[in-house]
Amino acid sequence: MSNPILEIKDLQVYYHVEAGAVKAVDGISLSLDPGTKLGLVGESGSGKSTMALALMRMHKAPAKIEGGHMVLDGVDLMTLSGDEMRQARLRDLSMIPQGAMNSLHPLMRIQDQIIDGIRDHDPTLTKPELNERVTALLQSVELNPQVARMYPHELSGGMKQRCCLAIAISMHPKLIIADEPTSALDVVIQRQVMETLDRLQEELNLSIILIGHDMGLMAQFVDRLAVMYAGKLMEVGDTRSMFADPLHPYTDLLIQSLPILENKGVFTGIPGITPSLLDVPPGCVFHPRCPQMMDVCKEVVPAYRQVKPGRWAACHLHGVVQ
Ligand SMILES: Nc1ncnc2c1ncn2[C@@H]1O[C@H](COP(=O)(O)OP(=O)(O)OP(=O)(O)O)[C@@H](O)[C@H]1O
Ligand SMILES: [Mg+2]
Repeated sequence: MSNPILEIKDLQVYYHVEAGAVKAVDGISLSLDPGTKLGLVGESGSGKSTMALALMRMHKAPAKIEGGHMVLDGVDLMTLSGDEMRQARLRDLSMIPQGAMNSLHPLMRIQDQIIDGIRDHDPTLTKPELNERVTALLQSVELNPQVARMYPHELSGGMKQRCCLAIAISMHPKLIIADEPTSALDVVIQRQVMETLDRLQEELNLSIILIGHDMGLMAQFVDRLAVMYAGKLMEVGDTRSMFADPLHPYTDLLIQSLPILENKGVFTGIPGITPSLLDVPPGCVFHPRCPQMMDVCKEVVPAYRQVKPGRWAACHLHGVVQ
């Protein structure tokens, strides 16, 4: 077995607001094997983007990393200086942020936006070398090299998202965090962009964390799934076993609420609302919505532990109460 490319240990990220601390990431531990894809799913507000930003150390006040470790290929990102972290971005890990295609600079040609990042890392490259790199990158994300000279408004959503992908792989990082890379696109384009990401993952032996709401779409592309709820992990495991036999009632509900042919593609959703992260319920954070709630769930926080080989869950249905 190879060492994990990424190990997150007990990561805590809080937003400090007037009313108190919003515990958006509350003690998450997770690891990712090299060359594999992990899907991070959960309802809106569960802390997915906060975790992604913290991994890149691009979180902004009032967010603060309260504790934990994020070890990428043996290096704890928490110990890097600001300058070292800047160097690590794009070269070691990169992110396609949520809504990235709308944050491309409207007045800069695509080539300049790609070159910007490369030049930061390698100022010695000449103009022709840079242009050559841009052409190769655009081709690798299946865009015509002529896109280099275009501005974002001249491109479709899918094309813009591919440009973001080209930027993310421009320095050949080991890890890419893609935060809802296709959620603004229609289903056909979504699939095409995901297929490109899939191909690049294999060609470049990338490790990928794919963030999204759509567990169905993700399930087709990721090796493992991590289910997040109210800042905590509910369940982690390989995609196939999780779908066949979800351990956590929340995972079960997420799977059941997927639009399938029988219910005519209607997304049923999960009854109840997500809690305020300023004041989460005691015991298991999910207990007020859980159809299998037991008395213990109201009081005791379930330990996140390995229930079966390779299957992790935080649920009293699968644990002995200490
Ligand atoms: N700047 C901020 N100040 C205070 N609270 C914040 C801030 N940004 C996010 N939060 C809170 O942190 C929690 C997690 O937000 P985050 O954006 O990480 O969720 P998410 O899982 O990515 O949601 P989505 O699926 O909608 O993108 C939410 O409860 C949100 O209200
Ligand atoms: Mg988000």
